[in-house]
Amino acid sequence: MHQFQPYPVDLLELNPFTKISSEWMLITAGNQEKSNAMTASWGGLGVLWGKNVAFIFVRKNRYTKEFIDKEAYFSCSFFDKKYKNDLKYFGVVSGRQEDKFKISGLTVNFKDNIPYIDEGNFICLCKKMAAVPITEAHFLDPEIKEKWYSGKDEGNLHTLYVGEILNVLAR
Ligand SMILES: Cc1cc2nc3c(=O)[nH]c(=O)nc-3n(C[C@H](O)[C@H](O)[C@H](O)COP(=O)(O)O)c2cc1C
Repeated sequence: MHQFQPYPVDLLELNPFTKISSEWMLITAGNQEKSNAMTASWGGLGVLWGKNVAFIFVRKNRYTKEFIDKEAYFSCSFFDKKYKNDLKYFGVVSGRQEDKFKISGLTVNFKDNIPYIDEGNFICLCKKMAAVPITEAHFLDPEIKEKWYSGKDEGNLHTLYVGEILNVLAR
């Protein structure tokens, strides 16, 4: 297991656009018995309701969503480039089909009972503040439905989760 240091949020110099959109992250949720993780490249880091928060967008049919919904916490783990193939794997295979940790060799570790990926180098540990299912009625720009959801069933709509960032870990 790697040694992580708590990292003060006000010292962060990361670019959230490249960090999330190009480098991607693994969203992890679950408990000591069973956890699951999936790749995400949509989301944000910001401020809401007086807290530093992470925003993640998870389609209803993701197995990881079941773990996020069941537990009070989730994490966002970021990685060095050398893990890109693992991130691709976590983004195309579902934990319903196979044990992604076993096959990839990536490992789950826990801090304060919150699961995160030990091979990551920058982790946001989050406490769920809100879960907002996004419906078609929310789309103001018709292109959104056409481009991202057309021909797909309800299970493809996203839920927005807002998580208070309790801790940032870095190594
Ligand atoms: C680069 C990349 C980014 C992705 N971003 C998201 C995302 O932001 N939200 C989402 O619901 N799915 C996203 N996915 C798809 C999930 O990672 C994928 O469906 C995964 O297999 C779900 O795993 P699970 O069923 O074990 O939860 C992304 C996939 C890739 C490859």
